[in-house]
Amino acid sequence: MRAYDIILKKRAGKELTKAELEYLISGYVSGEIPDYQLAAWAMAVFFQGMKKQEVAALTSVMADSGEQLDLSSIAGVKVDKHSTGGVGDSVTLVLAPLVAAAGVPVAKMSGRGLGHTGGTIDKLEAIPNFRTALAKQEFIDNVNRLQVAVAGQTANLAPADKKLYALRDVTATVDSIPLIASSIMSKKIAAGADKILLDVKVGNGAFMKELAEAEELARTMVEIGNNLGQETVAVISDMNQPLGKAVGNALEVKEAIETLRGEGPADLEELSLCLGAEMLKLAGRVENTKEGKAKLRELLASGAALEKFKELIRAQGGQEEVVDNPNLLATSKKRVEIKAPKSGYITEILAEEVGLAAMLLGAGRENKEATIDLAVGIVLEAKLGAKISKGDKLATLHVNEDSQLAIAKEKLENAYKIEAEQLVARNLVHQVIN
Ligand code: URA
Repeated sequence: MRAYDIILKKRAGKELTKAELEYLISGYVSGEIPDYQLAAWAMAVFFQGMKKQEVAALTSVMADSGEQLDLSSIAGVKVDKHSTGGVGDSVTLVLAPLVAAAGVPVAKMSGRGLGHTGGTIDKLEAIPNFRTALAKQEFIDNVNRLQVAVAGQTANLAPADKKLYALRDVTATVDSIPLIASSIMSKKIAAGADKILLDVKVGNGAFMKELAEAEELARTMVEIGNNLGQETVAVISDMNQPLGKAVGNALEVKEAIETLRGEGPADLEELSLCLGAEMLKLAGRVENTKEGKAKLRELLASGAALEKFKELIRAQGGQEEVVDNPNLLATSKKRVEIKAPKSGYITEILAEEVGLAAMLLGAGRENKEATIDLAVGIVLEAKLGAKISKGDKLATLHVNEDSQLAIAKEKLENAYKIEAEQLVARNLVHQVIN
């Protein structure tokens, strides 16, 4: 076999065999096949696409490229949850303790933020002393004892994806449905859960800008999971504005705590309940999502979910007092307000621009080596559909360092559109695919 022939075959729009994909991916991971050949192949995939069987084969080859977690020593049905990436998406911080409080084991491997999207591991590290690097046995023991653990991905989970993703990032081949689907699903499959729930974001702050594309991505991933023996459900949720109000690590932890108290933003609570109910259903704990939501609402109201969050923090060495006193979380030195330039209704909030503005303040990374400032970020004071008067507060920037403040402020101002007519409200959840 030769990499050249495989690239040529894909360029001609033909279906590759599992053996060919295995040859290509294992040769790439071992260093025998160079970056430029994989880049050419990825570009051929970008233009020619892949058949269903082919994406499933690529996914299993990538999942097999490293360690596969064995979670069989955790009792119960393990349901993993994954978001395709959004702005202000602190759902995992709410969902993990909430679902665990319902008795479903949550063994969650999470990632760090990159670019305009945040990552759960960075957010959790905003809790003083919280350890996100857990040894495999401690991770398993914690889930067995508390029903929940959230840890950073181990280095050797789907290493083929790690290398390929970095290459795609610099060769304009990230936004290809078969490549995104195989990237996400290879990591999920290697992470060893019994069932998988996907939150596929759609809108101006997501990879997928249009509903039809998001649906295709969701269906592709659901088919891969089901074909490879891990029942998978996808919820397509709206990312035409940040989720909740906070964008930034400590700010999002604070908002997640408020949500666990039942005092958080309506959209963050609604999506957490919707995804949580799907997880309970996948785990066989409830007959339908209506029953699931009712159960989860009770756990919010009784304080059981909040208590579970405290237990999670305690078990991973963090300062659990932040739950009762969120002021213990890092705060920025100053606040800068953005005011409405005119009266009307908010008809657009470009989530990606808000995410980029937060990144410029230091809340996110421009590259993998960059360090982040856990205290900074943005709080949206008004969201889509709100009626505002000239001079009302639109958002507050939480700032420590002025060097990029002017650009961040301008980005945020430009993210908002105010018009005389109110738009029809969008659904937060567009579709559930199973
Ligand atoms: N997230 C991933 O893990 N992979 C992609 O390709 C895109 C988003």
